[in-house]
Amino acid sequence: MENNVVILAGGQGKRMKTDKPKVLCNVLGEPMIEWVITACENAKLNKICVVKGFAAEKIDEYVDNRQSKAEIKTVMQQERLGTGHAVMQAKDFLEAHKDGNTLILCGDAPFIDADTINEALELHKEKGCSVTVVTSRVENPTGYGRIVRTDDGISGIVEHKDCNPAQLAITEINSGCYWFKTADLLDVLFEIKPDNAQGEYYLTDCIELLIAKGKTADACISHNPNVALGANDRRGLLMLNDIARHEIIGKFLDEGIEFTCTDGVSIGNNVTIGAGTVIHAGVVLRGNTTIGKNCMLGNNCIIENTTVGDNVNLNNVQAYESVIEDDVKIGPYVQLRPNSHIKRGAKIGDFVEIKNSTVGEGTAVAHLTYIGDSDVGANVNFGCGVVTVNYDGDKKFRTVIGDNAFIGCNTNLIAPVRVGKGAYTAAGSTITTDIPDNALAIERGKAVVKEGYAEKKLKARTEKFEKKK
Ligand code: UD1
Ligand code: CA
Repeated sequence: MENNVVILAGGQGKRMKTDKPKVLCNVLGEPMIEWVITACENAKLNKICVVKGFAAEKIDEYVDNRQSKAEIKTVMQQERLGTGHAVMQAKDFLEAHKDGNTLILCGDAPFIDADTINEALELHKEKGCSVTVVTSRVENPTGYGRIVRTDDGISGIVEHKDCNPAQLAITEINSGCYWFKTADLLDVLFEIKPDNAQGEYYLTDCIELLIAKGKTADACISHNPNVALGANDRRGLLMLNDIARHEIIGKFLDEGIEFTCTDGVSIGNNVTIGAGTVIHAGVVLRGNTTIGKNCMLGNNCIIENTTVGDNVNLNNVQAYESVIEDDVKIGPYVQLRPNSHIKRGAKIGDFVEIKNSTVGEGTAVAHLTYIGDSDVGANVNFGCGVVTVNYDGDKKFRTVIGDNAFIGCNTNLIAPVRVGKGAYTAAGSTITTDIPDNALAIERGKAVVKEGYAEKKLKARTEKFEKKK
């Protein structure tokens, strides 16, 4: 028996004032539909059909670029005539998987979770239901469909706009997530009529149609209080963002992470952090980022798709697609651009940029330095203001620096170039040739000193100054 998913993602979300489909609006940096698909994958559901409509090409692009565990196909809904009409577009998909159950989800309700999906499926199977609705009890049910309970199940869902006063008072709402027996859904889906306040084909009408045929319908209250939440405008989206942000911070508090102040702190869904790490205000952790134990992330660090070891101290650092090993100290005001690898115990000081380079164990790059396309060994010392000159305006070249080398202040290393192990460069040198191990290279103009040169000039200047007085 197969369990499949249909995700409704046809809507525009006019009030978002965007040219994207609403489900592609971001919550914590990920499109809402990404949250929904991830929940399905976590629930081990691997056949998904996405109903697209408004700006459908953007949904195609998103699905094509996504690295999915699940098999995802899309179907087109030409006109947006309601949630029932949207599901009708998935007819072929439903028929191809007729003997199982189908989970229907709204692509704009990002907080659905795998446990809720699985618990609802258990109840659905246990009670032999044709449809099981995932519901939530909320303080303010405005705008949501209300669940009408009976002694042993439900008799239907009434949309807010179709409610009578008694129904308006119901606080158990439809989350927009349902398990259907696929064959039963197909039996009634095309019988839905748009005779309601909004003139739409309501998917929820399937419930009464199924009950009329003697089938069973029930509701499963989710343990997740946010399960039904969606956003219709930018205010709503910001609210979802804040909820997600605090949920994730709450989870990390339980895992032993210390937050000194959560202002501006934003941590993505796929981030992991080791216990004992301290996070200060303004830290943003995005993508597939892993932070080790007992780290200190000082103010305003932005870390994206980066692996950080244990006991690392970062202060005002931006790091992208990089690796930072244990016991490294970086900052303030440092940028690690993609493919930088900072090895154990290295120290990177203020105003340093590193790109596509390895910095060896214990190496110190204290200030005002650019290291690009370079392989730097262990225990190297960089003076202030070193530049690896990696680009000739056409091609990029690598700089290789051996262990224990000492790069003098304001050295330019014109790549391709090699500095041998233990070699020195004299301050202010522009190094254009390879330096053997343990050598000193001086590549700068010889000093020319003109004795007494300034005397005449200084005299003229002082006279002018005296006249002005
Ligand atoms: C729906 C439910 C309501 C529930 C709420 C939960 C119905 C009739 N009502 O209402 O009971 O409380 O969800 O959020 O189902 N969509 C399409 N094509 C369409 C219409 C909608 O793809 O023609 C998609 C939207 O993009 C969205 C989802 O379906 O992702 C839900 O649609 P929406 O219009 O927001 O439904 P609600 O009125 O909120
Ligand atoms: Ca909605």
